[in-house]
Amino acid sequence: MSEIVRQATEKDLNRIFEIEVSSFKEPYPKSLLYMYLKLTPELFLVAEKNGNIVGYIIGLIRLGGLGHIVSLAVDPKERRKGYGTLLLNTILERFKKLKVHKVRLEVRVSNVAAINLYKKHGFKIAHIIKNFYLDGEDAYVMVKAL
Ligand SMILES: CC(C)(COP(=O)(O)OP(=O)(O)OC[C@H]1O[C@@H](n2cnc3c(N)ncnc32)[C@H](O)[C@@H]1OP(=O)(O)O)[C@@H](O)C(=O)NCCC(=O)NCCS
Repeated sequence: MSEIVRQATEKDLNRIFEIEVSSFKEPYPKSLLYMYLKLTPELFLVAEKNGNIVGYIIGLIRLGGLGHIVSLAVDPKERRKGYGTLLLNTILERFKKLKVHKVRLEVRVSNVAAINLYKKHGFKIAHIIKNFYLDGEDAYVMVKAL
């Protein structure tokens, strides 16, 4: 079985959107995914298993050089096989190469799977943002120094 992580291209967007919709209560529209792809293509990565996309991660660098993980999702059928870890490790390496010293992200307080994954990689809960999501759920802001 071959597994790789590579930069996403426009041709990948339909498949990425499929995973987005199957992964989130409030999925990003395809147009926003397209915008992220144009904004920082080197931080929009997909994981492939035997040539099929099974997950993706989106990062960007905010003014002041703070790294932000905007989205991470793995095909529900391919979870718990290490793809989330692979994508996260790869983007953290890319952030380091781009001289990013700190990375942050927001995650639903109920999202145990993602919180565990981020904690395993050294992210710490910095604070809570009340009512961050449209349905009223709070978000943890998690940060990691690189
Ligand atoms: C979060 C997500 C990306 C993890 O992807 P994944 O490929 O399943 O992750 P991995 O297989 O690399 O798991 C790594 C670790 O994360 C934690 N983890 C992953 N899924 C978990 C679950 N369902 N319950 C508890 N911990 C979990 C575990 O610590 C796991 O290590 P282990 O398998 O050795 O116990 C995936 O569950 C997903 O796409 N969820 C929906 C979208 C989402 O919530 N994204 C995050 C937005 S902030």
